[in-house]
Amino acid sequence: MPAENHSHDREPIATCHVPVMPNEIVHWLGEISPSVIVDGTYGGGGHSALLLKTLPTGQGHLVGLDRDPAVSERVESEQHDPRLHVFLGSYEKAPQALAALDLTVADGAVLDLGLSSDQLADPHRGFSFTRASANLDLRFDPESGQSAAQWLAWNKEAEIANAIYRYGEERYSRRIAREIVARRRREASVKTVEDLVEVCKRCVPRSKNHDIHPATRTFQALRIVVNDELGALERTLQSAPDWISGRGRLAIISFHSLEDRIVKNTFRDDPRWNVLTKKPLRPSEQEVEQNPRSRSAKLRVAERAVTSAT
Ligand SMILES: C[S@@+](CC[C@H](N)C(=O)[O-])C[C@H]1O[C@@H](n2cnc3c(N)ncnc32)[C@H](O)[C@@H]1O
Repeated sequence: MPAENHSHDREPIATCHVPVMPNEIVHWLGEISPSVIVDGTYGGGGHSALLLKTLPTGQGHLVGLDRDPAVSERVESEQHDPRLHVFLGSYEKAPQALAALDLTVADGAVLDLGLSSDQLADPHRGFSFTRASANLDLRFDPESGQSAAQWLAWNKEAEIANAIYRYGEERYSRRIAREIVARRRREASVKTVEDLVEVCKRCVPRSKNHDIHPATRTFQALRIVVNDELGALERTLQSAPDWISGRGRLAIISFHSLEDRIVKNTFRDDPRWNVLTKKPLRPSEQEVEQNPRSRSAKLRVAERAVTSAT
């Protein structure tokens, strides 16, 4: 799990990711004067860099995790505050990362879900429809599991349609799945970004005001599937009360309704959490103007309840 040395043929590039709702994250986690913070989605390290400033001077630990080997490669190539420890792996592994530092609990944790601008800009990952010739990969960790192209090559039409409907909320999911499977029969399987964009353009009518690309929902669905994004979030929400200290805080930024619903319902229904943000917090107009990527962000924060059993 500690960041390993991956032999990629590409040099790690500097991050271009701008952290979303930075002031709010620092406010909600800084307020508890933390000594140990977990940043479960380290990405470009923007939140971590700010959160380091909330730790006591020269003390404490900031434990970062990210599933993307490109992140650990970048971290290894940079100079760091000795209080920062970044691990390669899913945020589900937060307890193991803490244990590797002889810690059992964190005072605060942040999850900033989804993908980073670095991943979107990487022409080899398949995250952006503008990189037409890229392989349709869509994994945060391209070294484990199945790529989206492989997933589409091996699953049944009904399963593909259901995933696109459920995780992309795409009403034309059946048409898209039918076309994907028809291409397989013609031995012209969907392999690249361009292939999938072409299928979606053929199956999804242009939205009235052209505000959403016909492939947006399908890409979102496949990304969620190949990374088991909702499963990782659900499992972590269940385990987090075991590794966040009493009155410690968990802050989660989500970017679509499927994630936000899981966070909202778990915080509300699980007695181990006290909700601190009755309504989700949204980025300011000024932030959205400066960083359009933040426009759909919703931040929810909960406190680990203190019960007689904890
Ligand atoms: C929105 S970016 C985080 C950006 C970061 N907060 C910053 O300020 O630079 C999301 C990151 O989470 C990572 N990620 C997604 N799912 C993950 C998981 N289950 N465990 C760990 N990292 C994950 C992605 O690889 C990506 O780098």
